[in-house]
Amino acid sequence: MRPPGLCGVSRAPPALLLLLLLLLAPLREAPRAQGARAAELRVRVRLPDGQVTEESLQADSDGDSISLELRKPDGTLLSFIADFKKDVKIFRALILGELEKGQSQFQALCFLSRLHRNEIIPSEAMAKLRQKNPRAVRQAEEVRGPELLHMDLAVNFTLGALLSPHLRNVCAEAAEAIYARQEDAHFWLEQGVDGAVFEPLPRDPEPGLARCRQVGEHGKPCVCRYTLSLAWYPCLLKYCHSHERPAPYKCGIRSCQKSYSFDFYVPQRQLCLWDEDP
Ligand SMILES: *[C@@H]1O[C@H](CO)[C@@H](O)[C@H](O)[C@H]1NC(C)=O
Repeated sequence: MRPPGLCGVSRAPPALLLLLLLLLAPLREAPRAQGARAAELRVRVRLPDGQVTEESLQADSDGDSISLELRKPDGTLLSFIADFKKDVKIFRALILGELEKGQSQFQALCFLSRLHRNEIIPSEAMAKLRQKNPRAVRQAEEVRGPELLHMDLAVNFTLGALLSPHLRNVCAEAAEAIYARQEDAHFWLEQGVDGAVFEPLPRDPEPGLARCRQVGEHGKPCVCRYTLSLAWYPCLLKYCHSHERPAPYKCGIRSCQKSYSFDFYVPQRQLCLWDEDP
């Protein structure tokens, strides 16, 4: 017997309440002249440190891209773009400086890396996501293994549009600090991207070049590390089976969380003030 107070309470498992519904009715192909279709989803997410923040996810199915944005409680603004047309993912961090320590107002960093097909759901599926319960705090169902990327190339901001048209908007504040990896650049060059986009950075690990957290003097070059986390993103489509349908059909998404650490050369220790011993 259920206590009367619980009458009418949904007995669906909590995971189901958090499920985002995929609207399955296929959208009619809109004529190009009507402009890009963009859909936005705002979700409340739990960060790896337990705090809650709002995250915005946008899909542009004409441009075939997804963007994600979240503000960390310390004020850092993180942006992520998946550009499926160019096989590029862009991470940007706007890090607030501590004015009382004489730091500039903010520091911007951009990291580019190759986008693989299985990392995030396609933009047309993302554009169809709607949420049932906007107040729910979402926690990713799967924590994907953290990744450490050694950034050994600088990207020329002016020429960067040849790599992805999103660079001009997303990385404008970071024009002097856009990084990529040779292994990804090789792939993009094979796709026809101009090699002039990339410039080599001093090699990491260069013999004797220390991690910034171990360097005391502000003027010295060192290897800086920045770590960020995509707190919640739809990483896989779920398929269901039904007796009424001949084939499995899309019925939801799996959500993931993933951290990325980027190592990159800085000519001066003070360009990496966040990288300190805990
Ligand atoms: C970026 O490329 C442009 C065009 O080739 C060039 O004029 C400019 O000097 C380059 N910028 C840097 C920082 O090398």
